[in-house]
Order: sequence, then structure tokens, then C-alpha cells
Amino acid sequence: MSESVHPVPTGFNARIGPGDLARLRAAAEDDTDAFWLDQARRIDWTAPPTQAGDWSFDEQDFRIRWFADGTLNLSVNCLDRHLAEHGNRTALIFEADEPGAGRTVSYRELYEETCRLANLLKSRGIGRGDRVMIYMPMIPEAAAAMLACARIGAVHSVVFGGFSPDSVAGRIEDCDAKCMITADEGVRGGKVIPLKRNVDAALDKRDVETVIVVSRTGASVPMKAGRDVAYADVRDSLAIECEPEVMAAEDPLFILYTSGSTGKPKGVVHSTGGYAVWAATTFDWVFDYRPDDIFWCTADIGWITGHSYVVYGPLVNGATSVMFDGVPNYPDFGRFWETVDRLGVTIFYTAPTAIRALMREGDGPVKAHKRTSLRLLGTVGEPINPEAWDWYWRVVGDQRCPVVDTWWQTETGGILISPFPGATPLKPGSATQPLPGIRPLLLDPDQQVLDGPASGNLCIAASWPGQMRTVWGDHDRFFQTYFSTYPGLYFTGDGCRRDADGYYWITGRVDDVINVSGHRIGTAEVESALVAHPKVAEAAVVGFPHDIKGQGIYAYVTLNAGEEGGDSLRSDLVQQVRKDIGGMAAPEKIHFTPSLPKTRSGKIMRRILRKIAEGETEGFGDTSTLADPSVVDALLAGRK
Ligand code: WT7
Repeated sequence: MSESVHPVPTGFNARIGPGDLARLRAAAEDDTDAFWLDQARRIDWTAPPTQAGDWSFDEQDFRIRWFADGTLNLSVNCLDRHLAEHGNRTALIFEADEPGAGRTVSYRELYEETCRLANLLKSRGIGRGDRVMIYMPMIPEAAAAMLACARIGAVHSVVFGGFSPDSVAGRIEDCDAKCMITADEGVRGGKVIPLKRNVDAALDKRDVETVIVVSRTGASVPMKAGRDVAYADVRDSLAIECEPEVMAAEDPLFILYTSGSTGKPKGVVHSTGGYAVWAATTFDWVFDYRPDDIFWCTADIGWITGHSYVVYGPLVNGATSVMFDGVPNYPDFGRFWETVDRLGVTIFYTAPTAIRALMREGDGPVKAHKRTSLRLLGTVGEPINPEAWDWYWRVVGDQRCPVVDTWWQTETGGILISPFPGATPLKPGSATQPLPGIRPLLLDPDQQVLDGPASGNLCIAASWPGQMRTVWGDHDRFFQTYFSTYPGLYFTGDGCRRDADGYYWITGRVDDVINVSGHRIGTAEVESALVAHPKVAEAAVVGFPHDIKGQGIYAYVTLNAGEEGGDSLRSDLVQQVRKDIGGMAAPEKIHFTPSLPKTRSGKIMRRILRKIAEGETEGFGDTSTLADPSVVDALLAGRK
């Protein structure tokens, strides 16, 4: 099954067919600068750029700039420019946790809400370049908050509502945020999330000047005089017009924190102009966008997928985007498809982990709904196993809707490897081919570029407009993390196979990053949360295959002398990780062990820990370099 090929379904009436795609690829090759400047025409610039990419991945000359002499305002591109002809068109469909309890927001309404918030931010002294944190549910005001920052030139940093107060405090400190926009509470899967309370706990560690509190449930929450502003109290007094700041293409638009192999999360910085072009272009190409589409990306705005494909990509294109504040299994496992029918969703984009969780419940909850409005399906976040792909295609899409498996990263700003739904024959489990202008390479550990069918580490040889520009506050870390492993190339951290047809099959991270339900968790962060517990001497964390989540977290823990491991300590440690990072980083398994497998130089051999976590009992390769080879037997004996 994994190598079956699905041609474009006959009924799929694509805007971009095979001939168009071939022309795009040829244009990107022939005159790269002209090609990118052509894509930049999707944006209304106050000063159109005359330069495309100006970049070098080499250490001496390291720089990444796109459309550098162009100026623009991205909120104008998402809002103002649609008003004359499409002011009444629906920009956002807010789909609340409770089915049907949402509302629609027109482009004009979103424009006005954005201007109000922008004016409120300005009245609190926030302006160009200031950092604003957003910690909100998936409500229209969250999109308006992002756009309000873009309007006044402030840099937003959205933090997913599942992160703990400690994580929020760490991010406020790292980017030195002046302001926090939050809500009283969130509601998901019928459960209340105490957002303002979490914010207050975070601000006890690291305060900000202003907290704007949007009302979602109407709960009464503590407000600190002078610092906290209830949006509902001031909203009607705020003007519904706000002059946009003219930004340079290279001005930062947002910071989004993401985990890597080492240290604390990195603040990934995206630019204004290049990011705008990339979000707009990829949304149009990959989702074959038409003006009558209802587009639903199920991601939270706390992740890059929500930035690029709930907010910026759809709105720049004048599309109607669904903002979903629920979960796939509430009130029941048919929620997605009930909502698709009720809203008339035509394009549906979700994560493999959700597909696997729904597949487990059988076809019934899907078949209970018509789904006739759907014309295109997409996935993102982790490799999709061919069985899940096949179920998505057969059961959800009735073998009518192309499935676009889109590979990208927080760092890439938008999709890099993906089918064009009307032009690319599909292979279940493969993200297929690079988008026009994207140049992937596979390399072996000895820096050799691999040709033809091969497996290796995935690098990208040329910059693209949506590439991240720096790590906030640490430009050297940016270079070291992504450009030093393979000099002259961007290293993605992913392993990948390329088949004889030139199709790419992402095999997963080759670094110490674990992908749990599409959430990126750094092993080093979980380890440092664990060793912060007074009874823990040392910890090593690895991923293991998980049926639904893709990967789960397996923690090996050694305790201080005299301490005893047991279920109560296990739950304390899980609690510790939840508190330090958030629920999604909680280890699934905790394995107490008297020692960890180390080389004589003291390096932990994670290869062995991964194998044991995968359930293997032999085939550990060369263990002769271990300082104490008997550790392996002890680990096997103590397995959870
Ligand atoms: C990592 C990036 C891109 C938005 C969501 C995740 C994995 C992502 C795919 C895919 C196989 C995928 C990679 C990548 N990944 N999409 N279609 N097939 N793997 O963003 O949190 O920055 O994670 O997600 O391992 O490096 P992220």
C-alpha cells in the first residue's frame, strides 16, 4: 500500500493543473528573482520591492533578506484591501467548543475589531518594535490581537494556552514583553481553562506593564489596578479606524517559541514582507484556493500552522477561515464532520494524530455525516502512516478529495514540500515534491550530497521568502543551530528518503526533538524539568513509537542515594513537568534506573535508551565503548 499511486481524482477541477505547475517550476529555475518578485505581487506594498532574495548561508557572509526595499503593512493586506469589494464577506467563522455556539465575523467587523485593539495598545504606549504576548483561546479577538500588533508595528508572540505559567514567564522574560493580551477563561472539550489565573501566576515571576483581558466566559477574574484592562469596559470607546504603520519588509512580524535539541525554547523570528508573501503564496498553491471556499485548519494559533493557515494565509487571500476552539472528540467523535456539514467546509486541514485517534473509533462517526462540501483534505505536523492516509482518503474524503501531506516547520514559515492537489499524483505517506523554488538536498553524515534515490538528512540549499530570520536575542544561536552542521545549507533536523520518482518521505527528527501529537518537545527541556525535582540525580528522555500520538515521551531517571522510586514519585515527576512546561510534555513512561548507559567520556548513549524504549531486548550494536556494559542488563530488567 505504501507505494500505491493515486492520480488526481477525475472530478477535482483544479485551478493549477500539471501544465501550470511545470511552468511555475520552470519560471523559478529560469529567473529566480523575477519569479519571487512575481509572487510578491500578491501583496499590496506601500513601496513595491525591486529586490527579491539577498542571502548567503556561509558564515562569513551570513544574511537572509527578502524584498528588502519594499514597505507594507500586513494588517492592511489582510483587511483594508478587501473592504471595498468584500467588506461583508465572512473573514472568520468562530466555531466554539459547544457546536453551533459560534458566530461569523465579516472582513469589515474584523477590521474594526483590529483597529479598536490597535488603538488600545497605542493608548497604553505600545508601538513599533515592542513585544506583545498573546495567550488566548481560539476566538476572533485572538486573530484581531495579532492583526492589531501588525497594524502598529508591534511584534506579537503567541503562546499556546496549554503552556504552563512558568513557560509563559520564561517567554515574557526572553523577549521582554511590555504587554499581555489574554482572556478570562477558555473552554475546550467542556472544560474550563483558567487563562487569566495562569497569566497572573506567570506575571508573579515576570511582570508586564499592561494586561488586556478579553471576555470569553464572562467569569469574574482578579484585575490588578493600573495594569489590567477589561477589554469589554473600553471597547465601545475605542475608534474603529487606526492609521497603519508603514513597515519595512525585514521588520519582524512575530516571534514564536519552539523547542530544539538543546537548551530552552528558541524565539523564532519571522519577517513582515517575506513571511506575508510565503503565507499568501503557499495558501493559494497548496489549497488551490477559490473565492467560494470555506477553509478549516484545525490548528491552534499558538502554533505556526495557526499563524500561517488560520490567520495570515487565508486573510491575505480574502478567504473565509474557520477558527475552531474545540477538540475532535467533543461532544462526540463526529464533531469534525458535523461541523463540516453545518458550515459547508470545502477544504479541511488537520494533523495525523487527530486522524489516527478518529480512525480508532471506526467509520460510523464519519459516515453519520454527509461531508459532500469537502473537496480537498490536508495533513501536517508529523509523518502520516499510509494506513491513516488511506482511511482519510477513503472514508473521510470518499476517494474524491486529494490529500495534501504538507511538510514544513516553525522555521520555514509555510509549506515547503507538498503536492499541488490538481497536479501531483499522490503516494500515501509521502509529502511528494518540493514547491517551486524550493531546493531540498539529502546529505550523509560525512557531508556528501546524495543523488537519486537515497536516504539522508534533509537540508535546503536556497533561501525562500518565508524563512526565519534569526533567533530572538541570539543571532549566533540561529547560525549554529541551522547552518553549521552542513556548511552553506539550512539543516532541517529531519531525516528523509527520496524515491526513484523524486518523491520525499520524511522519516522524522534525527536530533533530540520528540514529536508528540505534532507538538515539538525538546528532550533537554523535559530533562531539566525532571532534575529540578529534589530527589532526582539525573534524567535522560527519548521518544518511543505511540499508536495515536506518533511519539510518546519515555524518561529514564536516576535518583539520589537513599531515594526510592515508585508510583507516587512518578506522579510527582509528571506534575513537575506539567508545571515547568505544560501537559503536552508529560512523560508517558518513567523508568527508574540505578544508572544510565554512558561512554567512558561520560556521554549518554541515547541510541541504547531509544531501543529499550521501543521495546527491543537485543541488537544494541556496539556497547564496548560503555563505561559499564552491565548497565544495559539492569535497564532491561527494570523496564516499565
Ligand atoms: C517538524 C516541525 C509545520 C507545522 C507543524 C509542525 C515534522 C511537519 C510534517 C509532514 C512529516 C512533518 C517534522 C518537522 N513535520 N510536517 N507533513 N510529514 N513530518 O511544526 O512544531 O515546527 O515541527 O514537524 O519533523 O521538522 P513544528
